[in-house]
Amino acid sequence: MTFFRTDIAQKILGGCEYRPVERFEASASVNIALCKYWGKRDSQLNLPVNDSLSVALPGKGTRTRVTRLLGGTKDEVFLNERLTQETESFYRRVVDHLDLFRRDAGDYFRVDTVNSVATAAGLASSASGFAALTRAMAGVQGVSLDDDALSILARLGSGSACRSMYDGFVRWYKGGREDGMDSFAKPLRNVWRCLRLGVLTLNAAVKKTSSREGMAHTVETASLYNAWPLQAERDIVALEQAVTTQNFEQLGATAEHNAMAMHATMMASWPPLLYWVPESVAVMQKVWQLREDGVPVYFTMDAGPNVKLLFESRVEHVIRQVFSDVEVIQLFS
Ligand code: DP6
Repeated sequence: MTFFRTDIAQKILGGCEYRPVERFEASASVNIALCKYWGKRDSQLNLPVNDSLSVALPGKGTRTRVTRLLGGTKDEVFLNERLTQETESFYRRVVDHLDLFRRDAGDYFRVDTVNSVATAAGLASSASGFAALTRAMAGVQGVSLDDDALSILARLGSGSACRSMYDGFVRWYKGGREDGMDSFAKPLRNVWRCLRLGVLTLNAAVKKTSSREGMAHTVETASLYNAWPLQAERDIVALEQAVTTQNFEQLGATAEHNAMAMHATMMASWPPLLYWVPESVAVMQKVWQLREDGVPVYFTMDAGPNVKLLFESRVEHVIRQVFSDVEVIQLFS
């Protein structure tokens, strides 16, 4: 049976009592996956092939205010204070998400969404964006939903958004049901105070191939993709264990291996998909040299050229020396 996004919204919101308010504001943090979500078993519902595990970047994310438009005839969507046009894909994706929550055809909204991370920082804002929008829409419609339901609704906007419903370490369970009602994120609750993430922005240009297109292309054309779910399964076990025992080497090595394996599947697709720029490789080589010199530092990379470093506070001074333009984020305060 095929399920559409609106079927799922209906399952979740159908029985809810609506207590609409005029305006509601919500926020959510960006997350970086240590075990990546790469490949869908259902692209309509953003149901993943594998479980993934991420860590939130506190203070980096999206703040979204939704205001009910009385007597409006269409939705208005502002991104970083700029009114977006109906022809823009950003406008369409937001309006598609509003559709999930709309009770009457005449319900229109003004959405003001502000990202605290510049798009140029190479941090995916769609995850925090759809998480914040989901919270704001549930708030403005006055529906009270549990955390799993909110995570599922956020997933319908963008897969990784289901993980941005929580701070700290978060695991997204792929689930097995066709309707995806068992595919949502849960927080791990472990705190790792000295853990740091360093962002290296190497190329701020908007990427040619989105994650969405990139993963679909990989699943369709890369024979190496078959190996990916098995690796992800192993990595997630190792990562959860590393988080529980605070074993940094295990965390870093598993995350780096996982990112490299994901990128290997992309390179094995045809036409090949490579998000790296020469500077990305130069950073990788510096990281490997640092490790040879006894500095515990690892990296991860998403569907873009920028590199995120993982290290602990005791080597922060070395990292800042080697990478002078690194932005260091304290993951747990
Ligand atoms: C490489 O969540 O942006 O960052 O579900 O199509 O919106 P859609 O994709 P998206 O993909 C993120 C891919 C990734 C890995 C990850 O965050 O797990």
